[in-house]
Amino acid sequence: MKLFDVYPRFEIELEKASGVYLWDKKNQKYLDLYGGHGVISLGHTHLVYTAMLKQQMDKIGFYSNSARLKIQEKFANTLTVFSGYPDYSLFLCNSGAEANENALKLASFHTGKKRVIAFKNSFHGRTAAALAVTDNPKLAAPLNQMHFPVDFVTLNNENQLMEAIAKKDVAAVIVEGIQGVGGLDIPSAGFLQFMAKTCQEQHILLILDEIQSGYGRSGKFFAHQYAGIQPDIITLAKGMGNGFPMGGMLIHPKIKPWPGMLGTTFGGNPLACAAGLAVLQVIKQEALMQNVMEVSGFLIKELKKIPEIKRIKGKGLMLGIEFDFPVVDIRKKLLYDHHIFTGSSANPNLLRILPPLSIQKEQIRIFPAALKKVLKNIGTITS
Ligand SMILES: Cc1ncc(COP(=O)(O)O)c(C=O)c1O
Repeated sequence: MKLFDVYPRFEIELEKASGVYLWDKKNQKYLDLYGGHGVISLGHTHLVYTAMLKQQMDKIGFYSNSARLKIQEKFANTLTVFSGYPDYSLFLCNSGAEANENALKLASFHTGKKRVIAFKNSFHGRTAAALAVTDNPKLAAPLNQMHFPVDFVTLNNENQLMEAIAKKDVAAVIVEGIQGVGGLDIPSAGFLQFMAKTCQEQHILLILDEIQSGYGRSGKFFAHQYAGIQPDIITLAKGMGNGFPMGGMLIHPKIKPWPGMLGTTFGGNPLACAAGLAVLQVIKQEALMQNVMEVSGFLIKELKKIPEIKRIKGKGLMLGIEFDFPVVDIRKKLLYDHHIFTGSSANPNLLRILPPLSIQKEQIRIFPAALKKVLKNIGTITS
């Protein structure tokens, strides 16, 4: 059977991985500055991670949420310590889209309303509600159109936000901690504070999508913590499981559950919880958030020496490197000539960097050097 051909793929067959490196079937080594869409937080096949998963596999690999699973509670308690949200509760699912789908549904249940305010250039996933708040009409099938009313407003524009809120039937505002797919724009601290205050006054729920920007990637556990706000719902996935499919949301105590309100078969399964616990344990043991800031500072300093770079966007190890021209060929050259994986975004001129949080300065330093060499050949690349 053929695979349903929906992804543009590089002609590289990956066979194994360790730390910040990947190897293809010819044993060529690659530096992973993309982490498979920002998923690899600890590094590939981290020993603590694989040991904890194997141990859990031998104990109990799966049971549904119809029975108590101690490891779920252990995971929730550990996450409390890291997240700084002791009185919030945790709902576990399997992916980012599913987390946002449930967050939007929860906001609608809680408020009894159905309009949602989202932002231009947003990406929240490909399931029905998550897609409805994603600013990319190309991804929407006919059945996704007019799903529920959504207003897309410009990031950091208080007037546009207030105009949308004036429509009165707003259940939620959903915003990314740092825009990922859209191109690394950040809601300013002032804007987040204004939005949190306004949402509270208007009984609208504020949903912070930290699926890509959370779990230490920005240098704080959540990117919104730079603004000192407390959203009503925070959605998680990607780095949460270091590759084990896992998503979730933190829910403000004012939002009350009732039996059957939300549900999932696989969400919160013991293997995902073991992966999640390993991630949190290693983030602490290896001081990964501190590492993010140190490596990010070093990388930005090096990148600033490259005159062709127009702008460096993002925070921590969620960075966008913007040029005056498309990066498609730069990415190919970095991959095939210098064996470095990087990412793209909706902005064709922007290179997206999402390395494992454990990457060291000595490992990342080959990237600015390779980029300089690639840029030197730019005449041949763009012609
Ligand atoms: C900010 C954000 N939200 C949601 C998603 C969707 O996550 P998933 O692909 O796990 O459904 C993504 C994926 O890129 C994302 O970057």
